[in-house]
Formats: sequence, structure tokens, C-alpha cells
Amino acid sequence: MQKEKNIADRVFLPAKLAGISLSNRIIRSATNEGYGDDSGRPRPELADFHARLAKGGAGAIITGFSCVGEGSRGINHQTMIHKDEFIPDYRKIADRVHALGTPIIMQLAHAGRQTSRAVAGARPVAPSAIRDKVFITLPRALSTPEIERIVSDFAAAAVRAKEAGFDGIQLHAAHGYLLSQFLSPYMNRRKDEWGGSLENRFRIIRRIIEECRKAVGYFPILAKINASDTRKNGMRPGMALEVARLLEQAGCDGVEVSCGVVEDGFNTVRVPRIPTEAMLEMTDELRKLPGPLKKVVGWAIPHFAARLEPLENFNVEDAALIKKKVGIPVIVVGGIRRLADIRKIIEDGSADFVAMARPFIIEPDLVMKFASGKSVESRCINCGYCLLGINRSPVRCYYGKLPKR
Ligand SMILES: Cc1cc2nc3c(=O)[nH]c(=O)nc-3n(C[C@H](O)[C@H](O)[C@H](O)COP(=O)(O)O)c2cc1C
Ligand code: SF4
Repeated sequence: MQKEKNIADRVFLPAKLAGISLSNRIIRSATNEGYGDDSGRPRPELADFHARLAKGGAGAIITGFSCVGEGSRGINHQTMIHKDEFIPDYRKIADRVHALGTPIIMQLAHAGRQTSRAVAGARPVAPSAIRDKVFITLPRALSTPEIERIVSDFAAAAVRAKEAGFDGIQLHAAHGYLLSQFLSPYMNRRKDEWGGSLENRFRIIRRIIEECRKAVGYFPILAKINASDTRKNGMRPGMALEVARLLEQAGCDGVEVSCGVVEDGFNTVRVPRIPTEAMLEMTDELRKLPGPLKKVVGWAIPHFAARLEPLENFNVEDAALIKKKVGIPVIVVGGIRRLADIRKIIEDGSADFVAMARPFIIEPDLVMKFASGKSVESRCINCGYCLLGINRSPVRCYYGKLPKR
């Protein structure tokens, strides 16, 4: 389908991201779609889902996080890319979106401690044995041979993504998952070569890029990182800037700037109010609580759960800081909702590309609407229900309303 373009507007001009051709600068940020079967194989409906995004004009699609090896899964129904036998299923997805003229990048992840024994199929692992306040299970600290095994899992996953015809990969080093755990001094207390200095905390990512590069040759390798979180001794913008520099030195082809870890509460995914009723109904553990206890928990949630402000454009300042210091393309995500803001981000040079997650859930055709002048802002109300809903079923917009039982 022909994508409408306003040629006076850089946002809607073709652009290159790490050699990948995009028809515009608005990217669909990684969003877990929830279309993996029990083994992690992508279900056929996932191709239809991505085709809707491609038809809707997204400049590129970054897939939801696909896990790279046994024990790395973060959530039920998540896709995985740990077996060669899944390559034909992924190829169908890449072929569908390519036929519509849209590139697709696979996000690769390991959940680390942000998972449960039931989902991961084993005790969760982490750089250090520090309990996550949301996931509760005490993780086991990884040994060096296990870390090297994870490095190989990422490289093997990159090969599968390339063989399946994807246009590149994105390493998920944000939001408190394993690679982000290694980067954070709060979660990484190791005394060996994988902990301590930033150079050491970055080592696993450097090794992954090295091994991926050896395995896939020239193939775009991006990374998503946090500019900040609210943990004591956690990620801060100055540190993120150094991480971005290290990524560039290691041969990474582009960096997406985000924020927050699950323990932060509603930080990565910001909301105007804590969605207590959705948490009680859509989270398996809470839904099953007996009535009186559920009432107490419902009362307690807004007192203990945190939410952060501002709600819009909340990583732009940090992305701009990084953009000034690195030569690789910078993508910014987080609360970007208005075409005027997108134009400003691109024109000011705060980032090279913008990415959005929730706006594409409610309107997969948002970029078309922007480009044709049909709309100037997303209809997303930031309720956060879609985030809670992925525990149960494929991702969708609830628009602040609980599903009928
Ligand atoms: C339902 C849902 C699933 C998400 N899944 C992922 C994911 O798989 N990988 C990732 O890096 N971020 C994920 N995110 C975070 C988004 O990519 C994005 O960083 C965040 O939602 C802020 O952007 P937004 O305000 O445009 O939604 C998810 C967010 C939502 C709402
Ligand atoms: S459920 Fe819909 S309206 Fe609510 S945050 Fe998600 S996409 Fe936006």
C-alpha cells in the first residue's frame, strides 16, 4: 500500500537506520504480543498482527521480546527464538511485513530475575542473588560458564532471526531484564570480571555483540537501554551515556532510550492513576485471592504502587544527552503521543527516530493517520490495562474498561 508522505516534513521522509530502509521515522517499539504457544513458537496470528502494523504505516516494527534460551522466559504466551525448528514460523512473519514494504527487527531477551519459576521452568537466574520485590523468588547468581552459555544463546538466536529474514535484532538491555540487571550496580553486586566497574558490568553485552557479529557478519544489532530507574544505586543518565558510548565502541548499530524496571512500578509504562481494578482482575495471583483479602489488597495497592510523571515524552531529555555524545542512531520511546512533539524531537535533533508502544496497540494505523492529516495525536489514554492484560491473552486495547467475564 502506498504510504502518504508530506515531503516538507522530515518525519515522513525515507530514512536509514543502521542500513535498514524505513519509509518514515516513527517506529513501533517492542511490545510483547502474547502470541507464543506453550513452547514459545509464534502462533500464525502473529503474522496478521504485524501485517496490521505494516499496513498502518509504521516505519519499522520492533517485535516484542523473544527469549533466547531455556530458563529465559519472562511471561506466559511470550515468543521464544531458542530452536531452529521455529525459523519457518518466523519467516512467515518477516515475509508478510516485507511484502507490505516494512522492515522488522526482532528483540532478543533473557528475563533474568524478572520472572517466576513457573514461567521460566527453572529457578530464575541473575548476576547476583538479590530478591526482586515483585517476582519474590530469590534468583540464583550465574556462574561464568553459565554467562558464556547465555552469550552463545543470544548469538544463536541472532542467526535464527537472520535466517528467518528479519532485518536486524535488538538486544533488550532495558526494563530490568537480565542485560539491564548486569548494567545496574543495584542488581549486579558481583566481584568478578562481570561486576564492579561499568566496563565489567557491560562485559556480557560486549561479549554478546562480539559473538553475534562473528555469527551473523554484517547484520544490524541494536540495543534498548534504560536512561534511568528509581532504584537506589540504579541506572542514571550519566551512566546510560557511558553505556551508549560502550555500545558504539562494541559495534552496536543503534540505541533506543527507555527507562524503568518492574520494581519501580509504573515508570517504563506511565499511567495517570494506578489501575488497581485491572491489577486485581488481570493478574493471575491477585484474581485468585479470596474476597475479603482481595478487598484489603485493593485498598493497599494505590498506597504502595508507584507511578511516575511526566506522562509524556519522558525520555526525550536523556535521549538528547546521549544523541549529542554518540555517532550511532538514537531512538527515543516513552509517552510520545503527539505529532507536534515527534516533529520537534526530530527537528531539534534530540533523537533520530521516535518509537511508541501503546499508541500502536489502540491504533495500528496511527502513522497513516498522522501522515494523511487525519489525526495529530494518539487516542491512547495511558490507562495501562494493556500491560496487565498480557498476562492473560494476546495484547489488545481495553481503553480503561475491564473485560466482561
Ligand atoms: C503491553 C506492553 C508490552 C510491552 N512489551 C515490551 C517488550 O516486549 N520489550 C520492550 O522493550 N518493551 C516492552 N514494553 C515497553 C514499551 O516498549 C515502551 O518502552 C513503553 O510502553 C513506553 O512507551 P509508550 O508510552 O509509547 O507505551 C511493553 C509495553 C506494553 C504496554
Ligand atoms: S489499554 Fe489502550 S488506552 Fe489503555 S494504555 Fe493500553 S493502548 Fe492505551
